[in-house]
Amino acid sequence: MIIAANLKTNLTRVETNKYLEEIEDFIKSKNLTQEVLVFPAMSSLDSNESSIIVGAQNAYATKDGAFTGEIGLVHLEEFAIKTILIGHSERRHILGETQEELVKKFNYYKNLGFKIVYCVGEPLEKREAGKIEMMEYISSQYEGIDTEYENLIIAYEPVWAIGTGLTPTLEDIQDIHTELKMKSTAPLLYGGSVKVTNAKEVLALQNVDGILVGSAALYAEHFCSMIEFAQELDSK
Ligand code: 13P
Repeated sequence: MIIAANLKTNLTRVETNKYLEEIEDFIKSKNLTQEVLVFPAMSSLDSNESSIIVGAQNAYATKDGAFTGEIGLVHLEEFAIKTILIGHSERRHILGETQEELVKKFNYYKNLGFKIVYCVGEPLEKREAGKIEMMEYISSQYEGIDTEYENLIIAYEPVWAIGTGLTPTLEDIQDIHTELKMKSTAPLLYGGSVKVTNAKEVLALQNVDGILVGSAALYAEHFCSMIEFAQELDSK
């Protein structure tokens, strides 16, 4: 399974390195074999020799150049980063990234062979508009995306479940994941208020290949427990 932490705008470089060390120690001490991904804040990226895959939360579709406030490929190459998160709802809805821009970014990093965690998910009004409208909205987020890309991971994160403590029912998660699996056979993660208290039941669902965790992942010991849950389920 894939257990991923999106640290968002939290943890400095020193804190991130300590965090990664704690997780790596745990993985080693328990011989865990899950795929663990961590996305630190941009300025907390650093060299990493652990078994954890460190990825960027964002980067511009460029090697370098004049794009104030952005980073490009050279900044990722400095730390041998080959993994990127694209289409997170906070970038779509707070920073205003459009599907067209995301497709450009996706293609740029795809052509470089990056592992891409591509996020989709509906805001509350689309969920409330009913299943058909909701699925149409989510489908529009697949437009222009190569769903057969070999290094693709998709994360379904309902916008209204992110950072709110609310989650769809387990039945809903399984139902939506089953539909989304018809669009792409790429591993499909669930994200949105995953906590140490609900991670196990989410991970146990059919067509859930892992989780993408925000706030709860900031506690290294909680994130470690989630990796262990996945290991337990895998070995059943
Ligand atoms: P929370 O786990 O804080 O709801 O955030 C989820 C998320 O956005 C992960 O990318």
